[in-house]
Amino acid sequence: MIQVAVMGYGTVGSGVVEVIEKNKEEINKKSGEPINIKYILDLRDFPGDPYADKITHDVEEILNDSEVKIICETMGGLKPAYDFTRRALLSGKSVCTSNKELVATYGPELIKIAHENNCNYLFEASVGGGIPIIRPLNYSLTAEKIDAITGILNGTTNYILSKMEKDGACYDEVLKEAQEKGYAERNPEADVEGYDACRKIAILSSLMCGKTMKYQDIYTEGITKITTTDFAYAHACGKTIKLLALSREEDGKYYAMVAPFMISKSHPLYMVNGVFNAVCVHGNMLGDSMYYGRGAGKLPTASAVVSDVVDCARHIGKVIMCFWDAEEVALTGIDRTSRRFFVRVPLEKEKEAIHVFEKVSVIEADVPGEFGFITDEMTEAEFNEKAGKLGIISRIRVE
Ligand code: HSE
Repeated sequence: MIQVAVMGYGTVGSGVVEVIEKNKEEINKKSGEPINIKYILDLRDFPGDPYADKITHDVEEILNDSEVKIICETMGGLKPAYDFTRRALLSGKSVCTSNKELVATYGPELIKIAHENNCNYLFEASVGGGIPIIRPLNYSLTAEKIDAITGILNGTTNYILSKMEKDGACYDEVLKEAQEKGYAERNPEADVEGYDACRKIAILSSLMCGKTMKYQDIYTEGITKITTTDFAYAHACGKTIKLLALSREEDGKYYAMVAPFMISKSHPLYMVNGVFNAVCVHGNMLGDSMYYGRGAGKLPTASAVVSDVVDCARHIGKVIMCFWDAEEVALTGIDRTSRRFFVRVPLEKEKEAIHVFEKVSVIEADVPGEFGFITDEMTEAEFNEKAGKLGIISRIRVE
């Protein structure tokens, strides 16, 4: 019998308990030994809950119990999750987490502590909810040199953008509805400003290069400025708008960014709608591969945490390799990266815009008083200089 503790009995934590209970037979078979939840740590009491007798308010009870071999950390945030995780790993208990903030901030340190103590720190659920993406990067694509990752990594913003596109509804309206349905948090800043996707691409990029890509260094732009008019233009040229998180390696140099992009129907991420997430990985031998599924939500995320529990159960006392060193990767800024840009200017600037940008593809979207176009490929720096000179309404990058 392998004793497990769950820290945090919120949405994901209660999902973990549900998955372990519902799929008991499968999970026990695949783990090689029965899994038993011995403790659930939470500040609250849960009278009437079928697992009320497992609730403890005292983390020491878990950390001092030598029978507990695996801990699911589903508390979120840095405090006290960092301290609890560190202490658990130091005492040889493996930790499986959905906490992307903690992984993005302390990942390499916690992995190192785990390995020094013959246990594991696994984080499949920290990126892409239930989609297997950490395991493919760590185990399946080990013959590859991965040079590009592009993903839709945030379910809330993808839901909002998909709804804006489908219903022609404005951002504020859809955000309110997403909050009412429980998709978006009451304080949606981390999602809509791109911070959540930024932490997730930092984790994926770190696994891509085996070093640490600091999320603080990643250029991040959210979706709060996207309007129904932008979607009218996108429609008129057979494109849509998605919040993409991407990282690239070119000649040993790395850059990463999170921003809204216009993408065309032929783009592999075009059909990823609602709360779904997807990640495209490019390797130098395999070429493109894509991972798709539910990027958020109780059971999908819990399923990924439990898949890590099974992995830990199969490797009690053994280290599962993970190549992520503490050494930091120097990111090149995005200024010298090249792409095309969708631009909106007031109608009276049409001639000047054509003069400044020279070659433009006009978008006929019948938006009164405006001229919309897509530029030729140019660097961000070049674009910013031209756009600054001209004075534009807005711009969206084109992928
Ligand atoms: N807020 C996140 C999202 C939850 O919307 O994708 C999953 O990390």
